[in-house]
Amino acid sequence: MSSFLTDITTLRERARSKMDEGPITAADQIALRITQLQGEPNFSPIGIENRSHAEYVEGDGLVDMIKEDLVAERVAIESYSEIVQWLGDKDPTTRRMMEDILAVEEEHADDLLTLLADLESRGGV
Ligand SMILES: [Fe+2]
Repeated sequence: MSSFLTDITTLRERARSKMDEGPITAADQIALRITQLQGEPNFSPIGIENRSHAEYVEGDGLVDMIKEDLVAERVAIESYSEIVQWLGDKDPTTRRMMEDILAVEEEHADDLLTLLADLESRGGV
């Protein structure tokens, strides 16, 4: 059975490896679509807190941090769901992209729920 907690060196190596791969994020996909629609994506960090639907809340301990992440995932799910509904048949290409992003966010929330259940079975460690 693998250990739940991974050492920091391994985590850093994995993060660097992911960065080298250049993952396509939801932000990348949305920015590309905005560009395709002749818009101009806003990459400025200035005002990002006001543009974000989720709040940044520091958790007090691992379980609390995961719960805050879960709240943020649920906010994202709600936001993407509303966008999908709003798009309807007006823009099927963007709607499909948003549905794909929504599915990924639902997986994230599911992963966090599984993680929380695992931690709770270990006594909240
Ligand atoms: Fe997510």
